[in-house]
Amino acid sequence: MTMAPPLAIGQPTDRVDGRSKVSGTAHYTADHTFDNMSYAFLVGARVASGRVTSIDASEALASEGVLAVLTHENLPRIATQPPLIPSLAGMPAPGQTFFPLQDDVVHYEGQPVAIVVADTLERAQWAAALVRVTYDETPFVVTIDQGRDQAYEPEAIFAGFIPGRNQRGDINAGLAQADVRIDAEYTYAANNHNPIEPSATTAVWDGDELTLHDATQGVAATQLTVAALLGLTPSKIRVISHFVGGSFGCKAMIWAHPALSAMAARYVERPVKLALTRADMFTSVGFREEQVQHITLGATEEGRLTALRHHKLSPTSHFDNWAEPSLGVASQMYACPNYEGVYELFRANTMTPTFMRAPGEASGMFALESTMDELAHRIGVDPVELRLRNHTDVDPNTGNPWSSEGLAECLRRGAERFGWQRRAPEPRSHRDGNWLIGYGMATAGYPVYGPNNPQRARARIYADGSAVVQAATPDFGTGVSTVMTQVAADALGIPFERCRFEGGDTVLPTIAAAVGSSGSGMISAAVHTAATNLRDQLIRLAISDAESPLHGADPGAITVQSGRMRLRERPDTGETYSELMHRNFLPDTDATGAWSPSSQTTQYGMMTFGAQFAEVAVDVDLGVVRVRRMVGAFAPGRVLNPKTARSQLMGGMIWGLGQALLEANYMDPRRGRWVADSLGDYLIPVNADAPDVDVELVEVEDKIVNPLGVKGVGEVGQVGVAAAIANAIHHATGRRVRKLPITIEDLL
Ligand code: MOS
Repeated sequence: MTMAPPLAIGQPTDRVDGRSKVSGTAHYTADHTFDNMSYAFLVGARVASGRVTSIDASEALASEGVLAVLTHENLPRIATQPPLIPSLAGMPAPGQTFFPLQDDVVHYEGQPVAIVVADTLERAQWAAALVRVTYDETPFVVTIDQGRDQAYEPEAIFAGFIPGRNQRGDINAGLAQADVRIDAEYTYAANNHNPIEPSATTAVWDGDELTLHDATQGVAATQLTVAALLGLTPSKIRVISHFVGGSFGCKAMIWAHPALSAMAARYVERPVKLALTRADMFTSVGFREEQVQHITLGATEEGRLTALRHHKLSPTSHFDNWAEPSLGVASQMYACPNYEGVYELFRANTMTPTFMRAPGEASGMFALESTMDELAHRIGVDPVELRLRNHTDVDPNTGNPWSSEGLAECLRRGAERFGWQRRAPEPRSHRDGNWLIGYGMATAGYPVYGPNNPQRARARIYADGSAVVQAATPDFGTGVSTVMTQVAADALGIPFERCRFEGGDTVLPTIAAAVGSSGSGMISAAVHTAATNLRDQLIRLAISDAESPLHGADPGAITVQSGRMRLRERPDTGETYSELMHRNFLPDTDATGAWSPSSQTTQYGMMTFGAQFAEVAVDVDLGVVRVRRMVGAFAPGRVLNPKTARSQLMGGMIWGLGQALLEANYMDPRRGRWVADSLGDYLIPVNADAPDVDVELVEVEDKIVNPLGVKGVGEVGQVGVAAAIANAIHHATGRRVRKLPITIEDLL
């Protein structure tokens, strides 16, 4: 049966929750309050390595309103520590395999050594300052300079999902064949997540049943992780997350605070809210690791790649082999027969690093795309032309064709929109008074991930013709509830206004955590399937109903528009869902749907491609960099809502600007702690830093990835931006800066 022409999908629909967000009526996790509420405050270790030798909580316990001071001496032991598995897998997803407050060992600065619970937040915070902790401090390693000598090659990174080494062809032969070789090292400061809403959990026990209000990318991920840690069945744990104020990966894995709030609530026998402070966010939810990447690239005189060697060195925790997969997309972007990618790690006194927006793609493509720009400059080929010369029709790692492409189209359309042809190739060719002007570009790519477990949704229609579609996903700011309303409305054949989306609750059908830009693809697949099943169910009812004008009709001949089923060839013959349901005494009816990626997906390379262009101005005396314009062209498959998609991509591009010029944190090598722990010290772009950002959407048809052909826009917007800006700085100044962020000192 063919579908009615799409009506809602593709519209730039405003967010259904926009008004509640801007008017302050949206309730975020920390906004929930309960009778008899209490508040938890963390006390973090002040040393990076060692043991807690004593904790004197007497003064804190005597302080007004204090209900408990929990330490490794009185906090119950966890039931099990589940293994580290990326949260897309639909399994417990702890951020690290270390759980605090189980013994006296300190592995990293900021590790919780006590939790104070009081009847107000202020009293808990005050009493936390009264907890006296002494330590036996031992030597620590926190920086690459300190840990470089202890590097090892792990068998796998990223929780075991990605091999530590990837090779194709013969790297040495490829380098030997090359007419041109470029060898370059790129260094990166660590980054911390700073969503506008810090992480928070409120735990409420009712007998042996637990309700958690948690700021999370996946309610099931929180539920399953807390169940495993506490030794409870998931059926006793409900997780609710209606509004989440951004995440960018720090709410993708489940850190200690949800379980700690539940344990504290059980201990004090009152609801407990544990809202991380901005400073806690720097030590409690993972981070993007400091790293060094080394690229050796070989090419012919015409710029065809013959070899790419890409190595990465980065710190991980004492418990897990984690590195963001920086080598992944960079290994797939171009036709290059000889490749070697190697991850190296060393143990550091930090928590386990984690996903941060475009985890690995953003850092790896800075190195590759900077090196490509250097190659273009060296051989005198236009940078856009160089990318086209190395275009690959297949995923070079597997030889599988792409499920859909669009890179060449993005390069062409982006270049045109940007006015790339105005660029004189020589550095320092363009000037505007005291500003040196530069144009730079880079390609972008982000994989299309599919979930491991089936994604489920339920659609329910009422006899008045209105519908509710439900799936457990939270909306962490992406606009998913708006977009899923559009998807459901079209599949049911009802107007957008008659449809509503409900999510963010484990009582609803399960959806994996929305990570890796997979949300719109996998959730739309589940919603589309459920809503289509409901529509088909109603059509079957009409056909079997002797009183229906559609009685006995061929289901394939029926179409639904504006809530009315009718024969495609005879539009006057039909009836509304309402008429059918009223006659059949159905106040409402529903259907579920489940979707898993088809086995076909393994036969394809799946990637969202894009191209980034940036114009910078560099003050010739002061080294100040202003990004004047950015243009990004992206091919994310089908665009469900161009307004929310464009917002995602713009946000990613601005993040890329932050990665290029601002975002950085450093470990103090003498104290073993982060230098920045606030938004005063950790810089992110503000409106005054943000230039005109222009996003071009290149729609490509993809029949493989999922039913609606959605490849995702969450992260690709950031990929390549830092390289485009660094390349523009080179074009402006002739200076090649191989570190992030690029600061004034690098350009003096
Ligand atoms: Mo996203 S950084 O994969 O949660």
